[in-house]
Amino acid sequence: MEFKNSYEGAKWAASYAKLEFADTYYLAYRDLPAIFLEHTKGRKAIDFGCGVGRSTRFLQKCGFSAIGSDISEGMISKAKEIDPKGDYRLIADGDFGQFKHNSYDLIMSAFTFDNIPTMERKVAIFQGLKNLLNNDGKIINLVSSPDMYYNEWASFSTRDYPENKFAQSGDKVKIFITGIGHNEPVEDIIWTHESYQDVYNRAGLEIVGTYKPMAKGDEPYNWVNETRIAPWVIYVLRSKS
Ligand SMILES: C[S@@+](CC[C@H](N)C(=O)[O-])C[C@H]1O[C@@H](n2cnc3c(N)ncnc32)[C@H](O)[C@@H]1O
Repeated sequence: MEFKNSYEGAKWAASYAKLEFADTYYLAYRDLPAIFLEHTKGRKAIDFGCGVGRSTRFLQKCGFSAIGSDISEGMISKAKEIDPKGDYRLIADGDFGQFKHNSYDLIMSAFTFDNIPTMERKVAIFQGLKNLLNNDGKIINLVSSPDMYYNEWASFSTRDYPENKFAQSGDKVKIFITGIGHNEPVEDIIWTHESYQDVYNRAGLEIVGTYKPMAKGDEPYNWVNETRIAPWVIYVLRSKS
């Protein structure tokens, strides 16, 4: 299947830099500090698919010493511009050669696997990430739930893409990010819970926690479906012993 990373290029880096932690994104990040407390030991982290570094700086604020990594040159150079003291690394797809094996406490991936196609690619990348974890190390994989692509949200719209409803796990879907300053949609890969279970199993990982953050209704945002449907899924993973 032909699939192009939507986040290549300087235009997307500039747009993505406008997004912070409001609206639907608030729910993606809200519960992470408590999840870190419950599941992680140690402070050495990699942010896999760091974009312009929003998630890397979030990890830093939560007390981690975090390295951001991404395959998009535009994203990495924007991350360095925003945060010149940060450690941001350009990596080739699936190449973790610049990181030491068995040495990280946490690898976080925030939305990255929404943009990685096929079972084979996902399994190979998870195997590579797993090799970087130390004995107590965890991977936190934050992804869009399939419901993300059939509904309207404070930060996203899918109403122009009714064909998403017919997509099977692994198919391409389109979604529009509101407030990004242009009207080009992002192309993602829809992936069900059962397909993620299959990926983790094949990569030698097991799920130790699954979270589906929803809005309570008292937040300062104009929720659309967020009080009723969970837009995100957060998986906490460890190596199978
Ligand atoms: C939706 S953005 C999320 C950025 C960041 N984690 C955040 O929360 O703001 C996804 C990022 O994953 C990156 N990405 C996609 N495929 C990747 C791969 N195979 N390896 C590393 N990064 C990848 C994209 O270039 C993009 O910057």
